Amino acid sequence: MKVEVQNIKPYSEEGSKKVQIEEMFDDISKRYDFLNHFLSMGIDRGWRKKVIKEIKAVPHHNVLDIATGTGDVAIAASGLDTQITGLDLSEKMLDVAREKVSKRGITNIELIKGDSENLPYEDGTFDVVTVSFGVRNFEDLRKGLTEMQRVLKPGGKLIILEFSYPAKFPVKQLYHFYNSTLLPFFGKVISGSSTAYTYLPESVKAFPEGQNFLDLLGSCGFENNGQKRLTFGISSLYTAFKG
Ligand SMILES: C[S@@+](CC[C@H](N)C(=O)[O-])C[C@H]1O[C@@H](n2cnc3c(N)ncnc32)[C@H](O)[C@@H]1O
Repeated sequence: MKVEVQNIKPYSEEGSKKVQIEEMFDDISKRYDFLNHFLSMGIDRGWRKKVIKEIKAVPHHNVLDIATGTGDVAIAASGLDTQITGLDLSEKMLDVAREKVSKRGITNIELIKGDSENLPYEDGTFDVVTVSFGVRNFEDLRKGLTEMQRVLKPGGKLIILEFSYPAKFPVKQLYHFYNSTLLPFFGKVISGSSTAYTYLPESVKAFPEGQNFLDLLGSCGFENNGQKRLTFGISSLYTAFKG
């Protein structure tokens, strides 16, 4: 069965999602890190550590971190013996990442502007591809996943961290309340963007999570696809391999 992928856009139903996403992240880049930690009450740090654990479990001479944003996963992975490439659509998010990398004196991260749906790499280039909180924002999710499969080496690993939806009472109800009221309120006040933090819960709701996402990975050529629900299912860690 073909998985439905809804395309929620930040600003307007009309026009390119990619252009709107780039504009939105450029706009909130300076406050993104603070808001991330504030709105998740710091839990996001633990989730990113789990990504690093998944990288460590396989050969990882080189890692491509797609939708790297302000570079938190790339920076966390820089302690490993690996060469990391962080790629993102938003130059201003990358500027924040560049400043953090330079302040820390990190030398094994390269940061480049690019599009996940048209990756500037040859087939079979990377041991590992990671994406944290990025796939939900892709204009063409299938194309993005197929591109990741293409640039992975045979046997290479894809690691995706993405919001999901808790299924059980009372976390489901509490999460819904938080997402529909507190998150848009604090997001707007702190980021100054009236759109970004209403787009966030809407895009989480529309995202084909769980079994649907596993099926999508399978239809894009990935094998041994798995999901670990984190923190009552608020987010999920997906792993998949290129055969
Ligand atoms: C929510 S942020 C996540 C940043 C970072 N990975 C993290 O965990 O904090 C989403 C990022 O995805 C990027 N993005 C969205 N669509 C993209 C695409 N098609 N290609 C590359 N980056 C994209 C955005 O520019 C933004 O920086």
